Amino acid sequence: MRMSDVLRQLRQQRTTADARPRLMERYAAFLPVSGATPNITLGEGYTPLVHARNLGRMIGCPLLYLKVEGMNPTGSFKDRGMVVAVAKAMEEGARAIICASTGNTAASAAAYGAAAGLDVAVVIPHGQIAAGKLLQAQVAGARVIAVKGNFDEALVAVRDLVAGNKDAADGASPSIALVNSVNPYRIAGQKTAAFEVCEDLGGAPDYLAIPVGNAGNITAYWEGFTDYLNAGLIETRPKMLGFQAAGAAPLVDGHAVDDPHTVATAIKIGKPASGERALLARDESGGVIEAVSDDEILGAYRDLARHEGIFCEPASAASVAGVRKMAAAGRLDPGATIVCVLTGHGLKDPDTAQRTVTSPHLAGPSAIELRAALGW
Ligand code: F0G
Repeated sequence: MRMSDVLRQLRQQRTTADARPRLMERYAAFLPVSGATPNITLGEGYTPLVHARNLGRMIGCPLLYLKVEGMNPTGSFKDRGMVVAVAKAMEEGARAIICASTGNTAASAAAYGAAAGLDVAVVIPHGQIAAGKLLQAQVAGARVIAVKGNFDEALVAVRDLVAGNKDAADGASPSIALVNSVNPYRIAGQKTAAFEVCEDLGGAPDYLAIPVGNAGNITAYWEGFTDYLNAGLIETRPKMLGFQAAGAAPLVDGHAVDDPHTVATAIKIGKPASGERALLARDESGGVIEAVSDDEILGAYRDLARHEGIFCEPASAASVAGVRKMAAAGRLDPGATIVCVLTGHGLKDPDTAQRTVTSPHLAGPSAIELRAALGW
């Protein structure tokens, strides 16, 4: 594969520059930022692309790579977009930010908002947020409001609130920025993950597999690959493979969200805000958006930790579950380069993890007892 000089230069810069250059600075040419944009950072981006040799061999795809987005400052990919959204909110004079969230956006907004000195409100569907995510938002001092409804209803309410605020003619209320992925700055920031993948591989992969909820991230990756293609930095774009948990898979035919409460591993969203753009990315790339079962997701979640040492949150493992299923059905070329995006960190959701393990073996503090317990 021929690598463009610019791409080679970017790769070299990466090894000679500071360990973590600022994401917005490095990709300024591709982002809606200017000298007037506050150059904030919590060290987002530059996440590892790990060659999954063991799992790759097991599923018959030796060139399987994992983009480990749980390594971002708040433990999910949301930070890439949040840094840009919050910087632009500051530039535009907002005093407050607000989002609806299933947890990760809330944790990210809380952290970046705190650092920026903004008032942060996060609106979550009551009783549906993993413990770690909720605590992240609370400890960072965000105002957390749990609504008696689902994510879709929370997002509508938040959008209405922000729209109503803009309409207020008296100018008395503080300006509020909506930082869900319907905010174009979020998508712009998140596309940097696609740039990093191209730099690490020296070109685009053949397939990019990703979990899909509100469909912002699949849209962002596709824009990122398209930007690099248009800039002449890469010569091809990957086929986009989107995966949703069965039971919460509104973009898959015949998989409307019936009872989202029963699905432990899903991002429970019934009407993805960027759904049409996700379907466009699927069709333009010649990819698919499919459903994977809870069991398939939890199997991939466990195998990622056991065979690759990577602890991601359950929803993230949908990408690997989907690739494993397609490979087993002979739908993927074994020679293909495949990148699975692992969107969030496993520590976000201790309760799901707890359900997959047994209690530690209890033994006295002596070598004899340890030996007996271990059978060594
Ligand atoms: N993976 C994780 C861990 C997520 O938290 C989300 C979305 C997605 C994948 C899907 O990304 O929405 O861009 O398609 N979480 C949102 C939130 C909805 O509020 O944290 P998407």
